[in-house]
Amino acid sequence: MTQAQETKQDFKAGLDGVVAGESRICLIDGNAQKLFYRGYNVADLIVHSCFEETAYLLLKGQLPKSAELVSFKASIQSALTIDPAVCELATKLPKGTDKMDALRSLVSFAQHFDPDSKDNSTEANFRKATRLIAQTLSIAAQLPALAEGKKPLAPNPAFSLAQNFLYQLLGRDPSAAEAKIFDQCLILHADHGFNASTFTARIVAATLSDIHSSVTAAIGALKGPLHGGANQEVMKLIDSIGSLNKVESHMQEMFATGKKVPGFGHRVYRNCEDPRAVLLRASAEELSKAKGNHDLLDISQAIRKAVTEHSESRSKPIYPNVDFYSASVYSLLEIPTDLFTPIFACSRMAGWCAHFIEQHENNRLIRPEELYIGERDLAYAPIENR
Ligand code: COA
Repeated sequence: MTQAQETKQDFKAGLDGVVAGESRICLIDGNAQKLFYRGYNVADLIVHSCFEETAYLLLKGQLPKSAELVSFKASIQSALTIDPAVCELATKLPKGTDKMDALRSLVSFAQHFDPDSKDNSTEANFRKATRLIAQTLSIAAQLPALAEGKKPLAPNPAFSLAQNFLYQLLGRDPSAAEAKIFDQCLILHADHGFNASTFTARIVAATLSDIHSSVTAAIGALKGPLHGGANQEVMKLIDSIGSLNKVESHMQEMFATGKKVPGFGHRVYRNCEDPRAVLLRASAEELSKAKGNHDLLDISQAIRKAVTEHSESRSKPIYPNVDFYSASVYSLLEIPTDLFTPIFACSRMAGWCAHFIEQHENNRLIRPEELYIGERDLAYAPIENR
């Protein structure tokens, strides 16, 4: 076998099934339909933990002791007030700027004001990660007000990150149930192995670049509709369908034109529903009941039924992923659709930073090879002869 043939055999489009590195952060057990952070099942974390504690777990590798959590939360609180220069930049972005684009620019810009910006040590990266987690949520909550030239609410130091986000965004104290469900959403989106944005973050980390560069690149990767951008696409789909009696015809048209249905399918969960979708569906049900609004979930369930029947008829079943029910949950929490993907980024910030730190702990430059399929040995043609 020639070297070229060997390379071709090894090649996997989209790196499907390729093991690209070692990690102790996240285990996805697709067969058992379970997801673990640092060995803990997320189904337990959403009941017993909170986003702050889970973020610490991801970053440090173990659950914090009481004093450690108190100090971590204090660092988070003090980072919630955004540098005025960052807020000012938000007001200068062109009208109608996509909120993910805004978040990407502002997170990148925040680096200039970080006291550890020139320090790439593990300790400094932990401090920067703590600030990034707080700042990203605070920026995202303030974006709608800043975009409209209004003064955002100052963060409330008595609130958790989840409570504070809803408070700053909605301008009212969230109920205990709203805050708990949003906190669970943050936990459920915090990490997911070598997904596209995290792998992007690790590639940047592996050049020994800085944490802000790494997470800025990751935000760009998350934005795409095949990744985090799917949660907004799900909401747009539900909105464009509008009512339960239109689901069937709308979906049949999508199937006929070969369009991918946002919120369905997953590279890792090939044979079952994403475990996060199972947990988020329960949250959507709880919120629907509490708010007396069943339309979103009814339409979602009808979409799911149509996708299940269609995909099974092709013998290629696909299942809901994390983005399918999170759209209904966020909408029921009164969060505007254009903030859905930024919220995903806020949550995944914990995972990205954990992966950055882990990559630096045992680093090797990530540099795969391509399978060259272009022309060879062409004779150069002078410009007048082309
Ligand atoms: N709607 C309709 N068909 C889908 C589908 C979807 N959402 N997801 C996968 N499929 C079909 C594909 O068309 C393909 O069928 P084919 O072999 O007849 O062409 C088969 O299932 C395998 O899909 P493929 O695109 O090869 O899977 P992948 O691992 O490359 O892609 C995703 C995974 C997530 C990118 C893909 O499922 C997708 O685009 N989903 C919609 C976007 C989304 O929700 N993204 C968030 C992921 S958390």
